[in-house]
Amino acid sequence: MELVALDALDPLIRARRTSMLVDQARPVPHDLVTRLCELATWAPNHKRTWPWRFALLEGDARGRLGNVIADAMDAQGDPPEKVLKARGKYLRTPATLVVGTAVGDSPLRTAENRDAVAAGIQNLLLAATAAGLATYWGSCPKGANDVVGELVGWESGTHVTALIYLGWATSEVAPPERPAPALTFHA
Ligand SMILES: Cc1cc2nc3c(=O)[nH]c(=O)nc-3n(C[C@H](O)[C@H](O)[C@H](O)COP(=O)(O)O)c2cc1C
Repeated sequence: MELVALDALDPLIRARRTSMLVDQARPVPHDLVTRLCELATWAPNHKRTWPWRFALLEGDARGRLGNVIADAMDAQGDPPEKVLKARGKYLRTPATLVVGTAVGDSPLRTAENRDAVAAGIQNLLLAATAAGLATYWGSCPKGANDVVGELVGWESGTHVTALIYLGWATSEVAPPERPAPALTFHA
């Protein structure tokens, strides 16, 4: 089997950026999204619980996503300007991929499920970068987890781990500085 050389993988990892600079008019093909989600599932997953859940929102569904989030924010007393901004937030890219984590059968397993999903998301982001997509991992706003899960039909308790804005990249983004890793060696 031919593997990607480290010297080829390294620049891909460094090139992945959190970016919303995309072509608004160009849809993201479903077969590409399917492939990205499939690659996500190759992440390590303790007990093979297969905890990842994916939902792609395009067209009017992006507005519905913004609306359920904004309504939840409004109900909990968030400032009106923040609520208004949330309504239109997901119209900024052609697609938003919602990624969720299933509840485990113990608190430890639930935490491990979430770690597995985060690892899967990184697979997905790197693969998307390789394909020429821009990606932007946003958190689910406080208090909106359950309404987002309901909107996409997930089981109650599923954690909304990422709202990933997706689109074809139009420009590069300067990478933020990174400190050296906190790494110690012990013998
Ligand atoms: C769990 C997680 C949640 C994030 N949530 C947000 C978010 O809500 N809003 C945002 O602007 N960026 C969010 N980000 C993206 C980070 O801000 C971004 O990765 C960081 O600025 C470094 O930039 P880079 O990804 O281009 O290296 C999130 C990243 C992770 C891993």
